[in-house]
Amino acid sequence: MIKAMSFADLEAIEAIEKELFSSGWSLEDFAKELKATDLAKIFVLWLDDEIIGFVSLREIFERGEITNLAVKSSYQSKGYGRKLLRFALDTMSNDGMEAAFLEVRVSNLKALELYKSEGFIIMRKRKSYYSDNYEDAYEMAVPLGGNV
Ligand SMILES: CC(C)(COP(=O)(O)OP(=O)(O)OC[C@H]1O[C@@H](n2cnc3c(N)ncnc32)[C@H](O)[C@@H]1OP(=O)(O)O)[C@@H](O)C(=O)NCCC(=O)NCCS
Repeated sequence: MIKAMSFADLEAIEAIEKELFSSGWSLEDFAKELKATDLAKIFVLWLDDEIIGFVSLREIFERGEITNLAVKSSYQSKGYGRKLLRFALDTMSNDGMEAAFLEVRVSNLKALELYKSEGFIIMRKRKSYYSDNYEDAYEMAVPLGGNV
């Protein structure tokens, strides 16, 4: 079940983030994002009584941005990432966004495949985008058909 994240979920989300990203968001970053209710949304995926993944997005005018997407490693490659991504895209579309954008490391083949299969295309490459290892990012986008 996918639900809006609450402050009670912060530690579970931070644990997933720490497991998956070497220089990811801190607990404070998530808390700040949760408070920015006018432009940011975070959704968590519950399986039984456990949070196994999350997706976060921002909506600025007609532009939607996926800012984070993660599935606990022991639950990956079972369709949960796609489920979260589709939920985020549906949310943005229903909110009137015209397109969704995201950045992804050029080496993250799994995420790239997922995004391409959901209609995202590569807009451009951003050189040395990530500060931890200066890896390049692809900026990707998909039209949403919002009705702004
Ligand atoms: C990227 C991520 C969110 C995908 O979630 P997931 O639950 O593992 O992915 P899914 O099972 O929904 O797979 C969706 C698609 O991804 C691709 N994929 C999945 N596993 C893959 C693998 N081992 N190798 C290559 N592509 C793969 C496939 O296209 C797959 O679709 P298919 O099963 O119909 O062939 C997840 O792996 C993750 O949290 N990774 C670490 C964090 C991260 O990189 N986040 C994205 C930052 S931009």
